[in-house]
Amino acid sequence: AVAFLLRKPILALSGSDTVRSVITTLPPTRAVVDRFVAGEHTVDVIDAVVRLREQGLQVTLDHLGEYTEEKAQADATVAAYLELIDALVVANVAAGTELSVKLSAVGQSLRDGGHDYALASARTIADAAYAVGARLNLDMEDHTTVDSTLAILADLRRSHPDVAVAVQAMLFRSEDDLKTLAGPGSRVRLVKGAYDEPAEVAHKDPAEVDLAYVRGMKILMAGEGYPMIASHDPRMVAIAAQLAEDASRAPDTWEHQMLYGIRADEQHRLAALGRTVRVYVPYGTDWYGYFTRRLAERPANLLFFLRAMVSR
Ligand code: FDA
Repeated sequence: AVAFLLRKPILALSGSDTVRSVITTLPPTRAVVDRFVAGEHTVDVIDAVVRLREQGLQVTLDHLGEYTEEKAQADATVAAYLELIDALVVANVAAGTELSVKLSAVGQSLRDGGHDYALASARTIADAAYAVGARLNLDMEDHTTVDSTLAILADLRRSHPDVAVAVQAMLFRSEDDLKTLAGPGSRVRLVKGAYDEPAEVAHKDPAEVDLAYVRGMKILMAGEGYPMIASHDPRMVAIAAQLAEDASRAPDTWEHQMLYGIRADEQHRLAALGRTVRVYVPYGTDWYGYFTRRLAERPANLLFFLRAMVSR
């Protein structure tokens, strides 16, 4: 209940420039952020990839940043992904590694022609990734972006059918989207949804979101695609396994996903059971939006943050 009450004010803070500049300059912040973010530079994320893969975990990598309104910034993000792909090749870990891209970071929120710009950017990243055996996932952002993101997905899949997308269980529209996306070979990441959405478009009650998440898992597990169950919630993790068994799914036909630094023990436990577990690894300097969403999800994360502040 506490988490639910705090969620809205914390998500509101994520949009405040004043709060952002105060928090990002506080000295203890860095140490806390390090728990959730793999570092600022390409070399840091490569270290994390090598370490996680040695532990039997798969990865999906996110160059932090979102809602950019400048072409130069969008281009810089594309360049960062291309640099990352080169570094993955050099480190011999490109094959099977997934890149997670937020389309608003590569042009979708530009005032003019955002959709087309994001499509071109995503295509550049996808072409480079698939050329070296890596793969691509489109993250899902606030509800106003869903139509554009699904259209870009469809476009990209014409040349790279393996491109994946995240779908947010909290949105009313998502059950229909999941039915459309559950076809052969379709990789879909099911998440609860991290944005503060209006009641006209989304479930607001956490219990309703959970029920919608279960319905979403049923659609994906019974479908012909590759479900990616992205949740730390022990109930969702257990139900996913049961549904996979009911659908006679082999372990290599679906996977669990969790965030870097969250329930690491559980990630290892599931991998030891022979399940595929993919860790979402964010890196880069623009961590503020990502970080505040993680604080909003769980009071323990917020307490951890506040404790680090006062213990200095
Ligand atoms: P939730 O936060 O509801 O927690 C439920 C329970 O899980 C808790 O009560 C607790 O039992 C357990 N738990 C959670 N955190 C824990 C912790 N730190 N330690 C111990 N137990 C813990 N969102 C989005 O809108 N678009 C996207 O593209 C993505 N992408 C994405 C990728 C991946 C790999 C993940 C895991 C998540 C996302 N998300 C996302 C975020 C997602 O929408 C959601 O906000 C968070 O995953 C939190 O929801 P959960 O299902 O994890 O459980």
